[in-house]
Amino acid sequence: MKFGFIGFGEVSYTLSKILLSYGFDVMTSIEGRSDKTKELVNSIDITVLDSFEDVSSESDILISANSPQSALAVALKYGSLTDGLFLDFNNISPNTAKQIENYISDEHFIDSAIMGRVSSDKLNLYFSGRKAEEFVERMRNYIKGHDAPEDVEVNIKVVSDEIGDVSKLKILRSSYTKGVSALLVETFETAEKLGLDDELWEILALTENRDFETSSKSRISSSKRKSKRKYEELVEVMEFLDGVNKNRKSKIMAIATKDKFEKLKNRKGRK
Ligand SMILES: NC(=O)c1ccc[n+]([C@@H]2O[C@H](COP(=O)([O-])OP(=O)(O)OC[C@H]3O[C@@H](n4cnc5c(N)ncnc54)[C@H](OP(=O)(O)O)[C@@H]3O)[C@@H](O)[C@H]2O)c1
Repeated sequence: MKFGFIGFGEVSYTLSKILLSYGFDVMTSIEGRSDKTKELVNSIDITVLDSFEDVSSESDILISANSPQSALAVALKYGSLTDGLFLDFNNISPNTAKQIENYISDEHFIDSAIMGRVSSDKLNLYFSGRKAEEFVERMRNYIKGHDAPEDVEVNIKVVSDEIGDVSKLKILRSSYTKGVSALLVETFETAEKLGLDDELWEILALTENRDFETSSKSRISSSKRKSKRKYEELVEVMEFLDGVNKNRKSKIMAIATKDKFEKLKNRKGRK
């Protein structure tokens, strides 16, 4: 089975490593991509084709993992070029997932998500759509005879046969986790200004869980490093929440989180 990737960052690299270890063929293209992406592609033993059109038409499973902002355009451009399945792993809103379904049909499109950080040693993959169960079954049958990679635990779940259900879950998760991250960033910006950050870490560790400081520092660092992408994800969150309830009061936390990430993104852009 051949897997093709549109976009080759953290997600595609991690998934590719796992797919290669199971013996799948993996391909992508570096057409028009940054030096950072080219370096990542060259660091792994996959097939590199001249264009993303070629990747799409050669793939049995085409995976879109680029950015929430480019997801729809990528789906419209490449999704119909594959005879196989199109899996979107971007943090897109259910509305965007529905638009992709309308264009490609649920005969080819599977709503897909990685729940949690992709770089962790545990990968939680969620799928929904009419073809999701069949796809997961096919994968399970294929990998039965192969040893699982030692350093990563892969959990797979099919949520339902409805396109949009996985997107709803990932967008709600995204709203929650980014809200917590935004609050952490803001709280420690103030604590640092007051010269009391070490003490605050100590106090919070008393009342929160034991690895609170390590996990929170990782959240703060990732929020700052990936502020642009996270801001794009919050635009999708807002689009979804607006569709559920127009009343501003029902989503004041999400609005504040989006504003905070917009500030972080702009601040990073100025550096
Ligand atoms: N990282 C995570 O833990 C995680 C978890 C769950 C979901 N996601 C979602 O998965 C997606 C990818 O995340 P990531 O962490 O892998 O991002 P990333 O590290 O920023 O990589 C994005 C990749 O997509 C490429 N790209 C951007 N626009 C493209 C386009 N129009 N056509 C082809 N390639 C394009 C980028 O190339 P350039 O370098 O040339 O821009 C880069 O190779 C995002 O939508 C994110 O929301 C991420």
